[in-house]
Amino acid sequence: MIDYETIRSETRGRVGWITLHRPDALNALNTTVMREVVDAATRFDADERIGAIVLTGSEKAFAAGADIKEMADKSGLEMTMDDHFGAWARFAAVRTPVVAAVSGYALGGGCELAMMCDVILAADTARFGQPEINLGVIPGMGGTQRLLRAVGPYKAAELILTGRMMDAAEAERAGLVSRVVPAADLLDEADKTASTIAGKSLPSLYAAKAALAAAQESSLAEGLRYEKQAFAALFDTEDQKEGMAAFREKRPPHFTHR
Ligand code: CAA
Repeated sequence: MIDYETIRSETRGRVGWITLHRPDALNALNTTVMREVVDAATRFDADERIGAIVLTGSEKAFAAGADIKEMADKSGLEMTMDDHFGAWARFAAVRTPVVAAVSGYALGGGCELAMMCDVILAADTARFGQPEINLGVIPGMGGTQRLLRAVGPYKAAELILTGRMMDAAEAERAGLVSRVVPAADLLDEADKTASTIAGKSLPSLYAAKAALAAAQESSLAEGLRYEKQAFAALFDTEDQKEGMAAFREKRPPHFTHR
């Protein structure tokens, strides 16, 4: 196990867990958190024994945003030359499905980090928002793009222009979260969901995640072409033969991720 400073990382069965751990700063995402989350996620992604990742925070905060104190005095040139949030793109690009388990505040970069995940489970205590406008800036880790795609242009504009927070029930109605669960059940539900995902064939999980990404990034015609090719390619896997044989033989499949 690697000794990180701002996160905890552990493996439970086929699920890799990443827990943000900056209790004194409501898990604000500074450069160290970014580097460590990306490191842990890319290690899990490279390990075939891991079929899903859970990303979570504390009861009070998933993450209250990018670290304001770290960036307050930077110049525009410095933000550009460091590519300040650039490494998060490597987190968003992992092939392994990621379940965000959100309790408490998911604000600014915290909301944007949750939106880089594939599934968002929210405790009934969760609060989502993009408050950057209150700081004289705008979302900078994908919020203007991913929130709009998640909740539509008018809801996204209202949230980004006012900087207000929404509770878990509103976030679920808006389509930002996959499911809301009682706060006490959040980690168990995340474990169940991630373990269910991790029990599937890895090549099909990778293909499903890539096809879903294609839907966000391309036209319908291009996305449908992508899906057709990815669907056909899975017929060259042993797991497809096993999955369909298991169905015919009325037994559970035994996937080998080949
Ligand atoms: N960056 C740095 N430190 C933060 C932080 C952040 N985003 N959010 C909270 N903290 C720190 C506070 O400064 C405080 O530290 P001190 O005790 O040393 O003062 C500690 O965490 C606890 O916070 P509060 O005392 O403020 O806790 P609260 O319960 O009174 O309020 C809160 C909670 C409403 C979430 C409030 O902390 C808050 O508004 N945080 C900032 C939210 C925000 O603006 N996020 C967007 C950041 S910019 C961004 O994310 C850009 C992007 O797109 C990537």
